Amino acid sequence: MCLLFLPQSVLLAVTVTHQDKPPAALVKMSLSFWLLVLAFISVSSSTNPGVKVRLTEKGLEYGRQLGMASIQQKLKTIKIPDISGKQSVKGIGKVQYSLSNMQIVNVGLPKSAVDLVPDTGIRLSIDDAFLTLQGDWRVKYLRIVKDSGSFDLNVNGITISTSIAIKSDETGRPTVSSVSCAATVASAHIKFHHGASWLYNLFSKFIDKSLRNTLQKQMCPLVADAVSDINPHLKTLNVIAKVDQYAEIEYSMVSSPTVSNSSIDLGLKGEFYNVGKHQEAPFSPTAFYLPPQVNNMLYIGVSAYTADTAAFTYNKAGALSLYITDDMIPQSSPIRLNTRTFGTFIPQIAKLYPGLMMKLLLATDKPPIITFGSNNMTIQASGVVTAYAIQPNGTLSPLFALNVATSVSAKVSVSGTRLAGAVTLNKMDLTLRTSYVGEFQVRTLDSVLQMVVKAVVIPKLNVKLAQGYPLPTIGKMKLVNTQVKVLKDYMLIGTDVQFTG
Ligand SMILES: *[C@@H]1O[C@H](CO)[C@@H](O)[C@H](O)[C@H]1NC(C)=O
Ligand SMILES: *[C@@H]1O[C@H](CO)[C@@H](O)[C@H](O)[C@H]1NC(C)=O
Ligand SMILES: *[C@@H]1O[C@H](CO)[C@@H](O)[C@H](O)[C@H]1NC(C)=O
Repeated sequence: MCLLFLPQSVLLAVTVTHQDKPPAALVKMSLSFWLLVLAFISVSSSTNPGVKVRLTEKGLEYGRQLGMASIQQKLKTIKIPDISGKQSVKGIGKVQYSLSNMQIVNVGLPKSAVDLVPDTGIRLSIDDAFLTLQGDWRVKYLRIVKDSGSFDLNVNGITISTSIAIKSDETGRPTVSSVSCAATVASAHIKFHHGASWLYNLFSKFIDKSLRNTLQKQMCPLVADAVSDINPHLKTLNVIAKVDQYAEIEYSMVSSPTVSNSSIDLGLKGEFYNVGKHQEAPFSPTAFYLPPQVNNMLYIGVSAYTADTAAFTYNKAGALSLYITDDMIPQSSPIRLNTRTFGTFIPQIAKLYPGLMMKLLLATDKPPIITFGSNNMTIQASGVVTAYAIQPNGTLSPLFALNVATSVSAKVSVSGTRLAGAVTLNKMDLTLRTSYVGEFQVRTLDSVLQMVVKAVVIPKLNVKLAQGYPLPTIGKMKLVNTQVKVLKDYMLIGTDVQFTG
């Protein structure tokens, strides 16, 4: 909002300076100051997106199919007012006529196309469309002769061409509008049921002029309506997508959509925040570019920045910590979380705290570092594991604290409209941080702690990651034929979509 106001106040300030006619040096100073401000504004407003969404021509084609059904419904609502008047007919005299109860019974849209207009939007062209009307005719002539019947009107060669602009609304959601439109009707043919042939000649010119005009006038507003009807669906874009009790993701657009000759690209913020605390991450997104792929309707690029903001957010929320107790260790394991097991590695523990159960606290001490490579993603997390003996009265007596550095490989997948993951442990390095039980060799704990991480921590993390993170979605969107690829600096999701209901 601030950014929108600033350039205006800049203009204002410069204008006022000129009007007051201050010394030239002051004008120069104030101008260079404002130029500096402007330079700063243009830097800060060119925010890179964390997530990119690309709609390909295939996606646009699917949109056309949905859109044509809607336009067809709209055109069926064309209302044609009754037409009546008096006309002199040679050999008969004055004829009073009326056409009434006109109703559209069929609308055919056999040919339509959507084209991308780079930098502008979309052009929708409808050609060779036709519609059929039914109505009643009535004439009165020679004072007493009355005749009436029904008629069919076939309107052919309808052409509608409209330009659709796509913009960002004040909430950062896309919005479309019809910005220009032209409609023409090539011909109209009426067929009377009952009635003499001179009737055809009488009415045909009114049909041609009046009806064609009426139809042409109504078509563009109805098409504009059909275009506007897309907006309530676009308004359902989850600009704030709740993830869990700790985090939400912002998916508002950071700039207006860009239209190229092969796609419409949206740049979304793609930043994780702590729920209720909208604090910016202390790093910015770097630019990334989606490859020119066309097989799917939609491509979603999720950058390393988005993943990093997730790591930052969960770490800050203290969500990356876990108490591990013996009951979490598989029954089949000979290694138990008690002072007897640990006493075999560090004899002082068995001596000082005989026969006690133990508890481990695992917590990250900084946000995990996520690295996107070609076809692989690794996460390096460092933290502290603190071991406690549980006294019979429940008091925890600290035994030791170790620094842990782990590296895990992550696989990503799409489940429904969520991005899910699964990790496996690559390696784990332990170093001593503090000992409360005297000296011991940290290396002796390697295998027991690896077992704990593999058997407890990783499975727990995977349950969480399997629940996934919401992707940007609109309405009741279903993703089909979906693939995910990890590339350098981002993940690429290619998918087709289906809208249900
Ligand atoms: C589309 O645009 C790109 C880059 O601007 C250009 O290289 C390409 O030839 C264009 N394709 C068509 C079909 O116009
Ligand atoms: C993942 O990528 C990194 C660098 O891009 C590479 O060093 C590492 O060996 C890869 N790991 C796997 C499992 O392919
Ligand atoms: C719990 O037991 C330990 C060891 O017996 C003792 O040192 C500690 O003071 C006790 N704490 C409480 C709150 O009773």
